[in-house]
Amino acid sequence: MTRVLSCIQPTGDVHLGNYLGALRNWVAGQHDKDVFHGVVDLHALTVTDRPGVVGQATLELAAVLFAVGLDPDVATVFVQSHVVEHSVLGWIMECQVSFGELSRMTQFKDKSAKREHDFVSAGLFTYPALQAADILLYDTDEVPVGDDQRQHIEITRDIAIRFNHRFGDTFVVPRAVLPKAGARVMDLQDPTAKMSKSAGSDAGLVYLLDDPAVIVKKFKRAVTDSDSEVRFDREAKPGVSNLLEILAACTGDTADALASRYSQYGPLKADTGEAVVELLRPIQTRYGQLMTDRGELQALLRKGAAKATAVAATTLERAKHNLGMLPG
Ligand code: TYM
Repeated sequence: MTRVLSCIQPTGDVHLGNYLGALRNWVAGQHDKDVFHGVVDLHALTVTDRPGVVGQATLELAAVLFAVGLDPDVATVFVQSHVVEHSVLGWIMECQVSFGELSRMTQFKDKSAKREHDFVSAGLFTYPALQAADILLYDTDEVPVGDDQRQHIEITRDIAIRFNHRFGDTFVVPRAVLPKAGARVMDLQDPTAKMSKSAGSDAGLVYLLDDPAVIVKKFKRAVTDSDSEVRFDREAKPGVSNLLEILAACTGDTADALASRYSQYGPLKADTGEAVVELLRPIQTRYGQLMTDRGELQALLRKGAAKATAVAATTLERAKHNLGMLPG
């Protein structure tokens, strides 16, 4: 059976880009593939500087994962720090990737530039090595992600191939899987930048748990272009194209087909806002229900961690054995 792994960080609230680019596909794959999904709290530590935040964010994010439809009876949903193998293989991966390779990661360049006056941790730099460990621990075939993670999956492949070459066949070489529509949801106020938790303002971000009226308003105020032609052209018309692609992701139509149905921006904005509200409505209801029982959520995560550990421990042992480390 095809093995799938993908993870999300508990930093900031989950937004529409996370959902359309990743989470929705995680749910779609769960019945015919063996899926593992982690809330990667160790990754969040790269930018955590206040106590008492990460744990609460981890629990809320886990509730979102179940609310979007991951079924704990088939999907393995776990918290990264509950499976210690991630940290151990993370270190091993750091020793398999070069300083030069890590220096070329665009996410590191972007994030460290944005934190110009802030503390830039070494973890932010070595982050892709830990991500490689997340993926390789599960003998992963497919990694469903948004477009911004492509480079991290590419470096994971490079590390896996290098390790297998140096130390013998150890890791499955994974591949990234991107959705047809929604792989790169853009900020509604700045459609040349991806929708991102680290954006300067919230006005262009649609959160999964935003109130329906707020969602409609954010779409109404979305930045479009100076002329008034509705056409799908990401280069020339980034704002309109972003709306068309979001609507396409909601309805299953193509962006081009949708474009031909509109002659004005107003109705396109209104329909896209409504479509997103309807898409998110059941998720918001389930989230509310799940958050009333934190004990049950934690029990589900313990069950997930146990299943994840069983797989991860086997892979880590294989890696240590092939490296020739002394057994304990
Ligand atoms: P994170 O937490 O930033 O995002 C989670 C997922 O959401 C996708 N995504 C988007 N997709 C479309 N449009 C957007 N604007 C958008 N913004 C975010 C991301 O591509 C991602 O799939 N490094 C990862 C977390 C991670 C991971 C892993 C992922 C750690 N280990 C192992 C896969 C496999 C991250 O920061 O994602």
